Amino acid sequence: MSLSTSELNQRINKLRKQKNAVILAHNYQIPEIQDIADYIGDSLGLAQQAAHTDAEVIVFCGVHFMAETASIISPDKKVLIPDTEAGCSLADTINADQLRKWKSEHPGAVVVSYVNTTAEVKAETDYCCTSSNAMEVVNSIPEEKEILFLPDKFLGTYIQIMTGRELNIWDGACHVHEKIGDLNLGEKQEEYPNAEILIHPECGCSTSCMLKSAVYYDCKDAHIYSTGGMIDFVNNSDAREFVVATETGILHRMQKANPDKAFIAANEESVCEFMKMITLENLHEALQYNQYEVKVPEELAQKAKLPIERMLAIGREAPKEKKMAIK
Ligand code: 13P
Ligand code: SF4
Repeated sequence: MSLSTSELNQRINKLRKQKNAVILAHNYQIPEIQDIADYIGDSLGLAQQAAHTDAEVIVFCGVHFMAETASIISPDKKVLIPDTEAGCSLADTINADQLRKWKSEHPGAVVVSYVNTTAEVKAETDYCCTSSNAMEVVNSIPEEKEILFLPDKFLGTYIQIMTGRELNIWDGACHVHEKIGDLNLGEKQEEYPNAEILIHPECGCSTSCMLKSAVYYDCKDAHIYSTGGMIDFVNNSDAREFVVATETGILHRMQKANPDKAFIAANEESVCEFMKMITLENLHEALQYNQYEVKVPEELAQKAKLPIERMLAIGREAPKEKKMAIK
């Protein structure tokens, strides 16, 4: 028997209360999941919430590396992911053996890994970062140190330009963001000449935009932000139209908070199928049957914890706002 959305919402609300569970959702989740989550946020905000929550169960509506990170920083909590297939193409671009080999070619280098990596890769890492604090993390490393930055080449190049530091950058990319290019932005700029342009640094266009900005007028006004930074920007801007270059799930949250503003996807096909694997049905089952637990073996978790703690220490202040769920 299939349940209606309102029946599923009611059941999820009852179960989360019974089990003292918190539902964390990434900004790319489907609208129904965003609407029922206790917190919606970017990778850093969600990791901060996982570190501070006093709930006994964390249901992670996002992708596997996010749930794994939550389990590493809160090993006493039960961390659940509603679909174990919710992976990340970017995290899959480097494994621990490849990183060990890269490190052996650069003895003494400091390893900075984007949080979109497996626990095994984090265990070989000195500092984790997200798109919202990568600049601060790189700037905190002494100038004379060589840096290996992984896995995202667009974020790496963006950070290299912004910090002026020479980085060794892994050749990885997210299959959703790498397809968002200058062409998309050019077309949208023509169609919406008054729109503010927001770009996630994982996009192919983020670096070409940075490189061009000194020369061409058309990209110089773009704003490059993590998904959380984009949300803050649109909530605080007086502009009426925004072209958004990232996964399209974020448009729901923007539109809901700003019904009188218009949000246009830079590329309507920018949909992460991994993020969309989480549904009200499998969230309900996750709470009902305590599935699927994400647990990192203790020895590995110990090694992966330090770079995550460093990331959290360098991160922005944890968001205080608690989003009320549908009752
Ligand atoms: P942020 O939400 O941290 O900007 O990350 C984007 C992303 O692609 C997560 O996988
Ligand atoms: Fe990974 Fe890209 Fe999906 Fe984010 S959008 S979870 S980086 S595949």
